[in-house]
Amino acid sequence: MKRILQVTLVALFAVVAGLGFTASRPAAVALAEPSAEANLAGPYGTYCARCHGGDGRANTAKGRQLEADDLTDSTIQNMSTEKMTRIIKNGRGKMPAFKNLSARQIAQIIATVRSF
Ligand code: HEC
Repeated sequence: MKRILQVTLVALFAVVAGLGFTASRPAAVALAEPSAEANLAGPYGTYCARCHGGDGRANTAKGRQLEADDLTDSTIQNMSTEKMTRIIKNGRGKMPAFKNLSARQIAQIIATVRSF
């Protein structure tokens, strides 16, 4: 009986700690206010910004010329990580394929896109 209580307490603690972690994340994201300049420093800036812009809105000469999508659009914001990864790796229409990015770079890029 005492052991069950112990296990329950440990499980409960894990859940509460997990919730705390999730709950504290939006605050952390809000603190690191995504700015166009900050986005340009990471892999998103290197590989995506020339068309999609530092703010994701594709309001760049190249973006307008190729009719790149506005990444702040809800369809793209709601896109699954798997689908976005596929688009980055394989390209899409006039968007080039980025075959040589590491999983880590792709994860960073997707995190930037989701911060728009
Ligand atoms: C040379 C310009 C260019 C670059 C660089 C570029 N894109 Fe695009 N992107 C486009 C164009 C053009 C489209 C519209 C493609 C279409 O649907 O025909 C697009 C579309 C997209 C879409 C939406 C696709 C869909 O099916 O709705 C996503 C997501 C996207 N780009 C992400 C990225 C990311 C992330 C990067 C950086 C790794 C990137 N793009 C780099 C031009 C670019």
